Amino acid sequence: MKILVLNGPNLARLDIRDSSMYGDLNYSELKSMIEIAATKHGFQADVRQSDDEATIIGWLHEAADTNRPVIINPAAFTHYSYAIRDAAELVKAPLIEVHLSNPLAREEFRHTSVISGVANGTIGGFGPNSYVLAIIALTNLISR
Ligand code: DQA
Repeated sequence: MKILVLNGPNLARLDIRDSSMYGDLNYSELKSMIEIAATKHGFQADVRQSDDEATIIGWLHEAADTNRPVIINPAAFTHYSYAIRDAAELVKAPLIEVHLSNPLAREEFRHTSVISGVANGTIGGFGPNSYVLAIIALTNLISR
């Protein structure tokens, strides 16, 4: 089964972001790790990144139209993009929100997620492993 793994702004620049917050992998290493973990659990992961809100909305529409499960790290859009929230709500297959860091342990503006309310669940704070945990959560949701 194909899944979409969508990553929001600045996640392609993990090489220069705070590794104590986001872990030691650069984006291409993170992408490979997700692809390998997905394959191990019987999924084919299509891992994408964009800094552009409209592009991410288009990908969510694609997931809605193809009934594809989604793992999404909306990055900073998490905290304020009602447009991404509304698009995520259109996805009827499981949708899991992930974060590398634990936003609740950071600045107050990161404590709000406008996406969580339309996700099956949220996983954050485990570095790149957050994506692996999301893949495991997906296998459970899909076999229910
Ligand atoms: C993030 C957390 C967000 O607050 C931040 O804006 C990001 C990354 C994470 O994966 O920890 O860009 O989504």
